[in-house]
Amino acid sequence: MILLEAVALSKTYAVGRGRVLHAVDEVSLRVNRGETVGLVGESGCGKSTLGRCLLRLQPVTDGAVRFAGQDITSTSMRALRPLRTRMQMVFQDPVASLNPRRRVGDLIAEPLRVHRLPDGRRRSTEAVAARVSELLDLVGLRRDQMQRYSHEFSGGQRQRIGIARALALGPELVVADEPVSALDVSVQAQVVNLLMDLQERLGLTMLFIAHDLAVVRQVATRVAVMYLGSIVETGPTEEVFARPAHHYTAALLAAVPGGRDSMAPPLRGEVPSPLDPPAGCKFHTRCPRAEARCSAERPVLRVVAAGREVACHFPI
Ligand SMILES: Nc1ncnc2c1ncn2[C@@H]1O[C@H](COP(=O)(O)OP(=O)(O)OP(=O)(O)O)[C@@H](O)[C@H]1O
Ligand SMILES: [Mg+2]
Repeated sequence: MILLEAVALSKTYAVGRGRVLHAVDEVSLRVNRGETVGLVGESGCGKSTLGRCLLRLQPVTDGAVRFAGQDITSTSMRALRPLRTRMQMVFQDPVASLNPRRRVGDLIAEPLRVHRLPDGRRRSTEAVAARVSELLDLVGLRRDQMQRYSHEFSGGQRQRIGIARALALGPELVVADEPVSALDVSVQAQVVNLLMDLQERLGLTMLFIAHDLAVVRQVATRVAVMYLGSIVETGPTEEVFARPAHHYTAALLAAVPGGRDSMAPPLRGEVPSPLDPPAGCKFHTRCPRAEARCSAERPVLRVVAAGREVACHFPI
């Protein structure tokens, strides 16, 4: 069953002198209840923008977003409030942007104090305290750490606090935007394992944004590969990693040690500017297989095998 869906979703930014930047360009994506979808692509390809639009943390330019069967594309911020409890975001370092002079217990309690219960009542002080304790347990922090300040914690512990905040209201959907990429490699695995454990225990639906393919391979059941604002390939993670169908996916995998036993040539050149994306297939300027058709005609995402989609005129 689909929990979250983007239908031809676009997001543009006006960047002065009448220029328009296409950050997300007609993206269609489905996330089923209980699964983890990995969203990968190079820096600037639009992953965070897509994640924020899907949670309606920013307005959408075109297309539609559906959550739990409800069209939320243009729902007002006020009308979105009850839905906020059901969908949350985990950021790279959420605590870094919060007041370092606040105690961890207060940081985790904040969403519980801000959002009322479904019947409109506020949570009692006792209920908030009990839930904060529960959340600390859930993310592997000690209850006696509640009185400490966030700046006293390590990066990994801060991310645990961020995860506790995101889970405070019991969301069904979590969009995790590069949740471990700011962490030391030694603690990345612990936080990844925590997220996987929570996903399973709480039956969460997750969109896991990352540029690290190894992490995505570990956490995601399905993967969506993004290039210059568009999704170029989707499919079950292991299948995509073993047999990429898009030349961009193949090049990305070839760039990681152990990514794939492939002879795919490494990516050449730079990512073109999203202010002036290439005509036709946006990847044609860097694609080893490009032909005349590729610069003339934009390929749409189409099904190439069960559960697999690719946007390429000449898939591998
Ligand atoms: N508020 C904004 N105003 C103008 N341009 C923006 C804004 N936010 C993002 N962009 C541009 O939109 C494009 C997509 O950015 P986004 O942050 O979504 O990419 P990303 O894939 O998350 O990158 P990263 O891996 O570096 O986090 C980039 O070209 C970026 O410069
Ligand atoms: Mg980002």
